[in-house]
Amino acid sequence: MFHFLDISQFSLQKIEQLLQRALEFKTDQSYPSYAHYTVAHLFYENSTRTRVSFEVAAKKLSMEVINIQVQHSSERKGESIEDTLLNLSAIGINICVIRHAQNGLPQLMAEKVGDKIQLINAGDGINAHPTQALLDFMTIYENKPDFSQLKIAIVGDIRHSRVANSLQKLFSLIGIKKLILVAPEIWQPPQVLFGESTTSLQEGITDADVIIGLRVQHERLQDNEHINLEMYRSLYCLTEEMLFYAKPDVMIMHPGPLNRGIEMTDEVANGSHSFILKQVKNGVFMRMAILESLTNNH
Ligand code: CP
Repeated sequence: MFHFLDISQFSLQKIEQLLQRALEFKTDQSYPSYAHYTVAHLFYENSTRTRVSFEVAAKKLSMEVINIQVQHSSERKGESIEDTLLNLSAIGINICVIRHAQNGLPQLMAEKVGDKIQLINAGDGINAHPTQALLDFMTIYENKPDFSQLKIAIVGDIRHSRVANSLQKLFSLIGIKKLILVAPEIWQPPQVLFGESTTSLQEGITDADVIIGLRVQHERLQDNEHINLEMYRSLYCLTEEMLFYAKPDVMIMHPGPLNRGIEMTDEVANGSHSFILKQVKNGVFMRMAILESLTNNH
């Protein structure tokens, strides 16, 4: 594996290998050193979890980390992203973790830069967020390892969610009992990659083992895709009352950032079923596994 771009590039064996390595990193007290590697973060969209957990992951592996301030970079003087990457390579950067609002941008850049610098997709537009899907996989595995028996519901703005896309691809590869995508009509996906969709929250979460809430992606909505947030809240906000429809040990997850009171109530987000901060913690170890995998080039 030279670049890490999309779940569709991986075999089930590779996914399981990354999972096992991430689990090892979580229990290990010491880590191998990749001090000869330098990682750059090139984030054209805001981030807290992904950028910081990549930084912590790289530092645990003794890698050098450079955080590029895009607003102060030469991109603002007209330099293309391809030229930026080639220059970073010339400076000695080995791996660039990139996030961009344009669908397919990391994939396009990977074709352009070839083997000069390794790229990790940290989220591209509404297309893919593969590292988030893998850390979600790890979090579910730790608690409900028999995926063949799981009903998983993804709830919210499915249409604009790169997380939902990557999770559909991942669950298709792993094989789960049922995946159901829950969204109001206007935020239904143009194409269901795996599973089925419904507009009914009650139908979607009934007997669910895992419920993954999604952020309302205000910044990606077209003019005709806005809905009344009060109506959305009344129909789709996960409340303690709604959780009664799910399995008694249902896992509540959310990739973040969370709009409290819109996607779920404080009681649900902070409650005993919530795995939201465990997802964030696992993000460090899964990203260590991904970074190490790139150093091995397989
Ligand atoms: N889940 C996620 O991508 O969060 P950030 O936008 O904070 O990185």
